[in-house]
Amino acid sequence: MRVVEPLPAMRDACAALRAERGSLAFVPTMGFLHAGHLHLVRVARERAGAAAMSIFVNPLQFGPAEDFTRYPRDEARDRALAEGAGVDLLWMPAQGTMYPERPLVRVDPGPLAAGFEGAVRPGHFAGVLTVVLKLLEVVRPDVAVFGRKDVQQATLVRRMVTDFDLPVAIVVAPTVREPDGLALSSRNVYLDAAARRRAVALSRALAAGVARFRAGERDAAALAAAARAALDAEPEVAVDYLACIDPATFTAASRADERSVLAVAARVGGTRLIDNVVLGEGLEGDVRAGA
Ligand code: PAJ
Repeated sequence: MRVVEPLPAMRDACAALRAERGSLAFVPTMGFLHAGHLHLVRVARERAGAAAMSIFVNPLQFGPAEDFTRYPRDEARDRALAEGAGVDLLWMPAQGTMYPERPLVRVDPGPLAAGFEGAVRPGHFAGVLTVVLKLLEVVRPDVAVFGRKDVQQATLVRRMVTDFDLPVAIVVAPTVREPDGLALSSRNVYLDAAARRRAVALSRALAAGVARFRAGERDAAALAAAARAALDAEPEVAVDYLACIDPATFTAASRADERSVLAVAARVGGTRLIDNVVLGEGLEGDVRAGA
């Protein structure tokens, strides 16, 4: 695995690797890698002759009260995990490499970012799309792989690629979960033992919604309420939203179908967690860590 820092070196290394191996797949991350990120690498390697990864904690997508400065970082461990997963080229740009000047221009994410994560985190998706556009422009991959764990982000990236005619195929890979159902996240390290036990309530709530859907319920509010009941049983979990979402518009659905997304965001012992499930697939469509 080759590790590069300067931007021109990454641009050149990507072009050379793509020429040598026929195609290039790219996995952008903020590091502190876990089995979810590594699954994206596996998918990337299936889709192209070579795999590149970036690790960059992007300040543009953090709000002033969010965890940018304390976001977990471990460069040495990340390098080893990336190499073990089969990453050919790892880019770890410094802040000054990515943003030599304070950036003034942002991608406007538009109405798909109006609700849910976009509503709770103003400016977040403008920051995400701006850095993703920059990363794609440097790497110029044939394929870029994103996780469904961040379903609104994946939807927005797809739409940016369509609207801007970017020459890259976006692949969205299923969520990787702990054996008890908790979706893997770099932020899970913030959970102490008690919060970790409570955090499983999110995926349990989603499973309760899926069970109601399978029992024939199609009213979106009723499905959300069924899931919500499972969360309200856990007193230390503060829900930001729990909704049945139309994936085309990213607004609350009124009727649910197979493609509808049941999504939840909640704070557990001070840590904000998100999770979601496609109703027609259920949690069985996801991947268990270690499996
Ligand atoms: P980060 O949170 O590091 O996630 C990098 C990629 O891993 C994203 O596509 C995310 O959806 C995916 N991912 C995270 N947890 C996952 C899980 N449990 N299962 C499967 N995939 C998972 O998302 C970002 O970074 C940033 O916003 C980024 C796109 C890199 C832009 O800064």
